[in-house]
Amino acid sequence: MENGAFIITIDGPAGSGKTTTARILAKRLGFDLLESGAFYRFVTYFLLKHSSEVSVSDFLLLSEKEQRIILQNVFKHLEVKLNSEGTILYLYGKPLKDELREPEVEEWVSRVSALPVVREMVNEYLRSLVKGRKVVAEGRDMGSVVFPKATLKFYLDADAEVRAKRRAKDLKGFDVLETKKMILRRDELDSKREVAPLSIPEGAIVIDNSSLSIEEVVKIMEEKVKEAQNIS
Ligand code: DC
Repeated sequence: MENGAFIITIDGPAGSGKTTTARILAKRLGFDLLESGAFYRFVTYFLLKHSSEVSVSDFLLLSEKEQRIILQNVFKHLEVKLNSEGTILYLYGKPLKDELREPEVEEWVSRVSALPVVREMVNEYLRSLVKGRKVVAEGRDMGSVVFPKATLKFYLDADAEVRAKRRAKDLKGFDVLETKKMILRRDELDSKREVAPLSIPEGAIVIDNSSLSIEEVVKIMEEKVKEAQNIS
């Protein structure tokens, strides 16, 4: 990796534990935490709430050229702070938190993130953001598409049942069976989409954590990071 950059990618499906794991690992290592999903959520949120030009449903139907023009405006409004606590996105000087997790955003984000121009522009943004930094990048295509030359790549997975239980707990009060259906539908959409489908990146270390605790997973990762630091 160029000029002191050290990029660790963590990919995996919903509920695989990648968000929690990435959070702990970044903190322990003192690396910046790049949560790539937040950028797709930001674009979706902006289109839903702050775009006077077009509704999100109409945006999906525009030509790529038209989408690009609108997205340039969306990205103009984005400010980002990256540290080991996480990725904070700002709009009009205010940090966005719950806004990016609103049900409407949840409903649309899969479709918005499936658009090639959206992915291209998010990826460009992410690459320029991490230049020369030490980063834990978490998402669906970090090791496969965005940072194929990352120093270290992980792919986390777990049984659908286990993932559903975790998600239901996160979403407080959600039924496990319903959550499992939702997760399987999301997996299907994310892994079958034409652009950057969820996949195991080349050279990734696969960790199935169905029966591992978060701490055990982080330990495995820390060991691998130590090895990589000794080599680089
Ligand atoms: O990780 P998350 O739930 O915040 O992701 C939100 C959405 O963005 C989800 O539909 C998957 C998509 N996403 C993606 O397509 N590629 C990424 N690198 C990260 C997220």
